Amino acid sequence: MAEPHDHSHSQQDPIDIWHVRGHFATRVGFILAAVGSAVGLGNIWKFPYIMGENGGAAFLLVYLVCIAFLGLPVMLVEFVIGRAGQTSAVGSFRKLSTGTFPWWLNGLLGVFTGFLILSFYSTVAGWILFYMLHAIRGGFAEFATDEATAGAFFGNWIAGGTEPVVYQFLVMLMTGFIIYFGIEKGIERAAKLLMPLLFLMLGGLLINSLLSDGAMEGLKFMFRPDFGNLSYKAVLDALGHSFFTLSVGMGAMITYASYVNKDVHLGKTGLAVAGLDTLIALLAGITIFPIVFAYGVEPGSGPGLLFVTLPEVFARMPLGSFLGAVFFFLVFIAALTSAISILEPVVTWMVDDLNINRHIAAFVAASTVFLIGIPATLSVTSDSPLGSVLIPFPGGSLGFFDLFDKLTSVFLLPLGGLISCLFMVFAWKRASAMAELAGSTGNAGHILVAVWYRIAAFVAPLGIATILIYSVFGLVNKP
Ligand code: TRP
Repeated sequence: MAEPHDHSHSQQDPIDIWHVRGHFATRVGFILAAVGSAVGLGNIWKFPYIMGENGGAAFLLVYLVCIAFLGLPVMLVEFVIGRAGQTSAVGSFRKLSTGTFPWWLNGLLGVFTGFLILSFYSTVAGWILFYMLHAIRGGFAEFATDEATAGAFFGNWIAGGTEPVVYQFLVMLMTGFIIYFGIEKGIERAAKLLMPLLFLMLGGLLINSLLSDGAMEGLKFMFRPDFGNLSYKAVLDALGHSFFTLSVGMGAMITYASYVNKDVHLGKTGLAVAGLDTLIALLAGITIFPIVFAYGVEPGSGPGLLFVTLPEVFARMPLGSFLGAVFFFLVFIAALTSAISILEPVVTWMVDDLNINRHIAAFVAASTVFLIGIPATLSVTSDSPLGSVLIPFPGGSLGFFDLFDKLTSVFLLPLGGLISCLFMVFAWKRASAMAELAGSTGNAGHILVAVWYRIAAFVAPLGIATILIYSVFGLVNKP
């Protein structure tokens, strides 16, 4: 295992950049941090609910295709750009391009996107934190008696105003705190220890769901496709989510890869990250849908799906308060490692490009997200204090929460990913991109490396561009 401060292990780098910027001490550290970024609320909260809204199995198939042909290839593009650049996303684009085209603007777009994502992500992470505390206090018990209680409780609480904002504040406080103390200590340790625990716990809950009355119906919903009711909106949601769930399209993976050693095979790492991410999303789905059908919850009930299904299960379980608290704690940690990865590119940009002290940057960035996030938290339902403020958007007006969500997932992330692909094709040599993917110890001539390059250079840009056009013209909500 290479020690971070051992000179003999970083021979390939004459200017010892690692010591200046800090880096992942081990290869495993990078993989776990990337997984920590990818696995989060996107898998456990968002994936089940958008699959529910879009009718199940047919959506799932489109989603898997999007992961394989759009999300994963673009993730590898980001890895390659980051490790080659070894600085912030903005700086990497600037450093790696020779012409006059302002590719670095894509890095700046990512910083903007990051602010918007985290401002609603922190809302939901706050809900998770509240549910964890509610479980500790034994609050789930009342859900066991009457199915409707869980839904009403959740609806009232999120519409309440002040309390959700306080929890959101706590989330941003913790996120800022970890970033304040630097990349290794914060991100690596948290990810290394707790992700496997979350995995085990989901496995246990999944078995419990498969033993419930709704098991057959839940599995049919997820795995028996009916392409008849697949809408354009479903395709767009699947595309957007394949970016969101892999943390791709805003430079988060560029930033993480800028901290990694040359001997890591980025292709293999990306496959592992995307594979694990997909696995966790599927586990969450297979856990939630049987419960949806067992307790008669509406599959398309939206962002509340996780919060009205699982508490009912914990309410009926022996040791339910304890297990519920542990589960929401682990989901919270998953959300936190993702939140860190959304804020980190912003902070890295402030440190590397604006020469701002890391501590000040962490504080400023976290505070700004919190401020932009308040309107998101106050606009979740139509009963919320800002619930009636609607902003025009292609396909229909949206409140702040939905606006930040839709604008980033179906528009800004695919756009950012598209530009990164174009950057690789136009501003860079094919051979250097392929060599960077394989790393100093891998085989750049491998057929899969060549396949990746072609997908990232042709298939993904065309696919994303087509779908984006639908998104921009609001065609997606038309039948
Ligand atoms: N992928 C994370 C999740 O599924 C969210 C996330 C973290 C993210 N970093 C990101 C989304 C960067 C988009 C861009 O919860």
